[in-house]
Amino acid sequence: MTRLNWGMIGGGEGSQIGPAHRLGAQADGNFVLAAGALDHDADKGRDYAQRLGVAADRAYGDWREMLAGESARADRVDLVTVATPNSTHFEITKAFLEAGFNVLCEKPMTMTVEEGEEIVKIAAKTGKTCAVNYCYSAYPMVREMREMVRTGQVGKVRLVVTNFSHGHHGDATDAENPRVRWRYDPAMAGVSGQFADCGIHAMHMASFISGSQVRELSADFASTISSRELEDDAMVNFRLESGTVGRLWTSSVAIGRQHGFDIQVFGETGGMRWRSEEPNQVYYTPVGGRTQIMEKGEGGLSDEAGRMSRVSIAHPEGFPLAVANIYVDLAASIRGELRDGLPTAEDGLRSMAAVHQAVLSAKDKGAWVDARPPMYR
Ligand code: NAI
Repeated sequence: MTRLNWGMIGGGEGSQIGPAHRLGAQADGNFVLAAGALDHDADKGRDYAQRLGVAADRAYGDWREMLAGESARADRVDLVTVATPNSTHFEITKAFLEAGFNVLCEKPMTMTVEEGEEIVKIAAKTGKTCAVNYCYSAYPMVREMREMVRTGQVGKVRLVVTNFSHGHHGDATDAENPRVRWRYDPAMAGVSGQFADCGIHAMHMASFISGSQVRELSADFASTISSRELEDDAMVNFRLESGTVGRLWTSSVAIGRQHGFDIQVFGETGGMRWRSEEPNQVYYTPVGGRTQIMEKGEGGLSDEAGRMSRVSIAHPEGFPLAVANIYVDLAASIRGELRDGLPTAEDGLRSMAAVHQAVLSAKDKGAWVDARPPMYR
């Protein structure tokens, strides 16, 4: 099968998420890095792209130059990844979708609900694939949990409890460091800090595994470091359309927690637990039975868990290969196959609605609010 041409915006040298995209996109031979506008500094971006093997005439100084350059080519990129800071996602994603490109956008997809609805509508109108990088949903054992729910192995899901809490912004003496400070400044980060940064991964995963969307929520936000305008800690209670009860804690001041993402699903006949720091295992307990450790790569797992795994049993299969699974399904989608599980613009929009409604709820002492975007009510 011929390789697809891939372009990247953001993710320059030294960025946090750029390497995971480059490893992920190119892991399975589906994509070749053909173009890029990788850095906010045009010269650095051009230079780095060429060092990564991009031809000089496709190593662009900024995304508008890339849009013009690629639109004019017969071999234009088949997919554009947007891995820039949050406030730029909407305009870049919109421009490329409207020009007929497929897009993978980093989370959060937009800054407002209205922008999210616009992206969903443009993607539907153009028929192009627009995905959002909720990459934790593409770990093999997360897919196994989803299949276990689907096949009734834990019964009806009563309760989902999830945490995405780390301690990397817990040092008050480092709070004014510009790399940290912007995340809690509304002018740069929007209406929410930690919930929009990490909490939305946890909320997406609760819906993803349970197979039901978030309907309403009640939020308590706190800025535990008082100079911060936006929250660095949040507790969000929610209900899924199915009636499942959801509990979510997200924090950036939980010193001692490292990545700190975990999820527990409690059904009528069993419970399950997964942690991002131990991603090859699911702890499963049938009601009245013993706890079992299910291991990626062992016999008896679902086809979906098998499809998401390339490395044999007991070897770590980490974050970049979860991102690679998103790219596998993107390649399939671009080639015309529907792939169930690929996070889409609809997921990005639902997250944005949940963020904005959580902000309203937190301001109203945790009042319960409708978490759905207006177009899905
Ligand atoms: P970063 O600050 O480490 O890197 C951002 C990169 O984008 C830099 O190379 C910068 O030069 C470049 N850039 C900035 N503005 C640009 C522009 N207008 N055009 C081209 N390049 C530009 O940021 P980080 O942590 O890599 O985050 C980027 C995005 O990825 C954010 O939206 C973040 O929320 C998301 N992210 C997602 C994760 C996930 O698990 N899905 C994990 C980490 C980040």
